[in-house]
Amino acid sequence: MTRNPVFCALDTTDPEAALALARKIHGLVGGLKLGLEFFAANGPAGVRAVAGGGVPLFLDLKFHDIPNTVAGAIRGAVRLSPLMTTLHAGGGAEMMRAAVDAAGSEAQRLGVARPKILAVTVLTSMSGDDLSATGVGSSMVDQVRRLAALAQEAGVDGVVCSAHEVEALRAECGPGFQLVIPGIRPAWAAANDQKRVLTPSEAMAKGADWLVIGRPITAAADPAEAAAHIARELDGADPR
Ligand code: C5P
Repeated sequence: MTRNPVFCALDTTDPEAALALARKIHGLVGGLKLGLEFFAANGPAGVRAVAGGGVPLFLDLKFHDIPNTVAGAIRGAVRLSPLMTTLHAGGGAEMMRAAVDAAGSEAQRLGVARPKILAVTVLTSMSGDDLSATGVGSSMVDQVRRLAALAQEAGVDGVVCSAHEVEALRAECGPGFQLVIPGIRPAWAAANDQKRVLTPSEAMAKGADWLVIGRPITAAADPAEAAAHIARELDGADPR
């Protein structure tokens, strides 16, 4: 394995719990994902406390607002030096372009690397009926493809997508487009509420760049051993 692709999702509002977990799995995962739950409770200071000191950070804040506001929010996020951050592709091409431009200019101003901007297409919690209730006439798969293409045209670096979309999106969006996959379950872990799961090695073989894994690590009796187990499995199976 040339790099560890696993970002561990620390889904908690408790900063001490997040920090304790981050320490336990340090060096055994590729990075940490902190999202809205953690950020709403603890803010940028909480993020710095848990993911400071050079740990790769996936700051999953799913921005969706007018272009000017999203650009401002992205500039704020760049101060936390995340490797990746997210917005909703449904905000439109102009919003996504404003985000990419703001990330570039703010990173340059601060002398830090530009975070990768990733788009969320259709939330995997939504069914086809939920989608049509919002006025979208296309099928789920067509809408995911349309939004991924729109994101790519707008200069976005990649998308967060479900296990069953990764192959099609890799084929359509080409090799450089970052595909980040949640819903990952090692064969030895419980599925919890995830419906369509892939093992870490399966997801990488289908073309994933990064894997988001939460409870198989965070809820394990020994999180460090769970993270190490996943890394060993990927080492054995990852042809890259
Ligand atoms: O614990 P688990 O591995 O299911 O955690 C998966 C993480 O990925 C959570 O932070 C969840 O919010 C996130 N996620 C997801 N499905 C998506 C997008 C994000 O499970 N489609």
